[in-house]
Amino acid sequence: MSKILPIIKNPSPLLREKSKEIDLKKIKPNELKELKELCADMIKTMKEKDGVGLAAPQVGKNIRLITINTKDGPKIMINPKITGKSWAKEWNEEGCLSVPGIYGKVRRNKKINCVYFDKKGQKTKIQAEGLLSFVIQHETDHLDGVLFIDKAKEIKKIKAI
Ligand code: CO
Repeated sequence: MSKILPIIKNPSPLLREKSKEIDLKKIKPNELKELKELCADMIKTMKEKDGVGLAAPQVGKNIRLITINTKDGPKIMINPKITGKSWAKEWNEEGCLSVPGIYGKVRRNKKINCVYFDKKGQKTKIQAEGLLSFVIQHETDHLDGVLFIDKAKEIKKIKAI
């Protein structure tokens, strides 16, 4: 049974670390089992908290793993790497489960190319644009210890109801 994981909130040194790549070639069977459980737990947590994406450091694991809620269902991205960015950028309002009640506008590349390993360990390339592009950029920033508030303007605080 997958479970809802506690989210690490800003400020925390765990959110500021550079996360490590997952070595899928050398992974041991017990580690693979743990990784699969973590993926399932992250997806459950992301859905439960209404997040559009979640990065492993937000649940206390400093490894390069993100989950994204897309219109086609949840996507798992292992070792995601942005390999290309469009010149065109766009301002977009963002929030983050690790920075509750705070929103701000962030300028990001409209389109990106991204390489990652999927849940079956298959190397996958995608081109993302619009919201998917922004979410991938936001989540991969987490893997480098970067939060959207580092880049945002017009930061707004919204009181929890
Ligand atoms: Co975030």
